Amino acid sequence: VLVVDDEPRNQRIITEALEHLIEYKLASSGSEALDLARSYLPDLILLDIMMPGMDGYEVCRQIKADPALELSKVILVSGKAMIEERLKGYAVGADDYMTKPFIPEELVAKAQVFLRLSRLERDQRELNRSLDGKLLDTELKLVNAAKMSALGEMAGGIAHEINTPLGTIGMIAEHLKDLVIEEPLDKKTVTDMILVVSRTVTRIATIIRGLRTFSRDGSGDPFEPAPLKQILEDTLVLCREKLKQSGTELRLEGIKDDLILQCRAVQVSQVLLNLVGNACDAIAQLPDKWVGISARVVGEQIEISVADSGSGIPPDARAKLFQPFFTTKEIGLGTGLGLSISKGIAEAHQGSLELDVECPNTRFVLKLPIFQQAAL
Ligand SMILES: Nc1ncnc2c1ncn2[C@@H]1O[C@H](COP(=O)(O)OP(=O)(O)OP(=O)(O)O)[C@@H](O)[C@H]1O
Ligand SMILES: [Mg+2]
Repeated sequence: VLVVDDEPRNQRIITEALEHLIEYKLASSGSEALDLARSYLPDLILLDIMMPGMDGYEVCRQIKADPALELSKVILVSGKAMIEERLKGYAVGADDYMTKPFIPEELVAKAQVFLRLSRLERDQRELNRSLDGKLLDTELKLVNAAKMSALGEMAGGIAHEINTPLGTIGMIAEHLKDLVIEEPLDKKTVTDMILVVSRTVTRIATIIRGLRTFSRDGSGDPFEPAPLKQILEDTLVLCREKLKQSGTELRLEGIKDDLILQCRAVQVSQVLLNLVGNACDAIAQLPDKWVGISARVVGEQIEISVADSGSGIPPDARAKLFQPFFTTKEIGLGTGLGLSISKGIAEAHQGSLELDVECPNTRFVLKLPIFQQAAL
């Protein structure tokens, strides 16, 4: 407690009451009180109103305006008991008012009530702060879990995607070994083979780039111009094998070379991968399996549509589709976060992600502005 009073007699009465019960410091003027309050950070301030220089009202006003002291309670103490004075005290932010002369036991009891209150507020605040931190932490972990689950699903396919071209390179190497001992050496054949090797290496590099892109967290990336075609290629390289293995036909339409949008490519890729992954899962049992991706420019936006041969989503599931943790997949096969994260990403791009309920097939539409308006 910080006791503020200019009269030694009052100081003595108050401190005698608090003695051995409550820890206190003493100030005998307004400015001294403010200095001491800022270094001592008292839970409670017993503040005399009538003081030469800065009066109690002004001290109270300044204490309440100081964010560092927002947890300090103020009880104004005065010889005047007029209602106007009391109201003026509350108007400058005082928490309570006491009139002199007071009964020491009551002063102590009241001080203890406010100290309890102040301590509770402090605890509450600390709890909130640590909860905030934990929530953010959990959120980040979940987003990562969803990504890794999507990636895990593709892992087999990706291994295959890399293994096939590696096999090609191995075969060509064997072949070249035999070729070079032949006379005369057919330069054309050798050159052709080397070309195949270098193209295959490029292919593997693309796959690795896709993987690297995807496993990175792009949420802090700047919005940069990127060709949609490139983003799509980086994405498809991760799921082409999954599509192939399930016998799903991939239909691409309108993915022109000149479609460039200002975006976080990593995140857009993440949305597309989830949409294609979802589509592929949804139609696994259908006899007719296709996934179609198309893009077109509408005004200032690029509309990217991901449709599949499924026949839409029943109305009761539609409402929950974009909610976190809504999944119809078995435990371990889906987190139910894919669409909610995707929608979040679309919105962070000032775009949208919606289910097209007019389409007879299941169709999601991702709309992204070509240019990012600078956030105000
Ligand atoms: N193309 C689709 N056709 C039918 N149902 C779909 C389609 N896309 C999503 N859904 C439904 O929406 C649910 C939620 O999708 P979401 O991507 O949010 O999570 P998930 O795919 O279940 O899990 P994760 O994305 O972590 O793999 C899916 O479980 C599925 O029931
Ligand atoms: Mg999903």
